[in-house]
Amino acid sequence: MLGVIGWLLVSLLISTEARYFGGYYQDDQNGLTSQSSQVDNQLLEELLNLENERSEDGTAETVGSNPVETIGNRQQLFNNGGNHAEENIEWTKNIVKSISKLGQISGLASSQDFLYLFHRGNVTWNERSFNEETNVYNHQHEPISVNTVVAVDHLTGEIMFSWGKSQFFMPHGISVDPQGNIWLTDVALHQAFRYKKNNFDQPDLVLGEAFIPGSDDKHFCKPTDVAIASTGVIYISDGYCNSRVVIFSAIGQYLAEIGRSDKMIIPHSLSLLEVEDLLCVADRENGRIMCYNAGLSSYRQAGQLLFDIRHSELIKPYAIAHIGDIILSLNGGSESTVGISMDLATEQVVDLWSPNNDTFHSAHDMAMSHDERSFYVCQFSGNNSKVIKFNFVESSQMLLIN
Ligand SMILES: *[C@@H]1O[C@H](CO)[C@@H](O)[C@H](O)[C@H]1NC(C)=O
Ligand SMILES: *[C@@H]1O[C@H](CO)[C@@H](O)[C@H](O)[C@H]1NC(C)=O
Ligand SMILES: *[C@@H]1O[C@H](CO)[C@@H](O)[C@H](O)[C@H]1NC(C)=O
Repeated sequence: MLGVIGWLLVSLLISTEARYFGGYYQDDQNGLTSQSSQVDNQLLEELLNLENERSEDGTAETVGSNPVETIGNRQQLFNNGGNHAEENIEWTKNIVKSISKLGQISGLASSQDFLYLFHRGNVTWNERSFNEETNVYNHQHEPISVNTVVAVDHLTGEIMFSWGKSQFFMPHGISVDPQGNIWLTDVALHQAFRYKKNNFDQPDLVLGEAFIPGSDDKHFCKPTDVAIASTGVIYISDGYCNSRVVIFSAIGQYLAEIGRSDKMIIPHSLSLLEVEDLLCVADRENGRIMCYNAGLSSYRQAGQLLFDIRHSELIKPYAIAHIGDIILSLNGGSESTVGISMDLATEQVVDLWSPNNDTFHSAHDMAMSHDERSFYVCQFSGNNSKVIKFNFVESSQMLLIN
């Protein structure tokens, strides 16, 4: 219910591009305390009436007739499906020079100011990288000697600055939180790191124990991605050898793990739909997206599986992102693939996207831009990485595929 109210507030009062960072709850040292946001019934009533009026005179985009259910109950609330994603060919061309000396780019994250790339220097993940039985990294004395985090300009693709040399071994995921801090996962270290926006010398929060794989509340096993709520709550998908998402408080206290019983095979990417209180997980090798109650409005409900998404076009979701309640999924792996956009409420595919005249090859990650007008995809095959920018362009017709 709160999610719906938040949603209506966002879509009607703020604007579809503004981001909603209302605090549903705060956590303290003793755990989480619920703090419902106060929106009274009369206000809700007014919002719903306003919504109906807008629908009738045609000024609003498609809205379900009775928008009082949550997305978890599959009611269509909002539709952004008219926008087709198209490669920005000029930009993709421009960034080629910037990234020509980088190694495999495994992760992308977008802040208001920069697009961040996380790359592996001269290291590649191969059959000699890890002890197959223990998942312990074999090259613990060989940190990547070059800067692994690279900030590029959104418009020109030019490198602005870089950092992170001699600290990482097998870069994987990178995320930016609502404050602009950088989060990284390294599958060789089995750790996740937070770097303050203005201090890249050392992390101010480290989760997991260096090089020690595990599945308890202090260890990960090849963690893949991080999502951070505006309240500071941390979600970590874990990972290549565990099958769960671990939740931590803003100060890094273990809170809960979710999804372990759902037999995910490589939870590889997270997308947090904060206004819906929904955490979606790309269950890569099962070819599905699992969407859980994120527990932001009621901590006790965290981890309740609300629905999962399967579709013939959803083959291996390596990365997911969302814009409104449209979820974008990047099919990765070695085959030629395309990306798909699906309406979370109806599970309808509303768009397919891929590089101009081409498909993706070993696509690995994607990042939605801050203004939600574009997104980025990285792929690597061999040592050749590519970063591709897509812009949302208006299209008169929605693509409907069943
Ligand atoms: C990567 O480069 C470093 C420094 O030049 C070198 O010591 C190391 O052996 C290289 N590693 C690989 C896997 O090529
Ligand atoms: C690639 O796409 C562009 C624009 O859609 C088109 O003009 C061009 O002919 C295509 N090139 C090839 C090789 O198919
Ligand atoms: C990638 O580059 C490294 C170091 O430059 C080299 O040893 C390795 O053979 C390359 N791998 C591929 C698949 O080209």
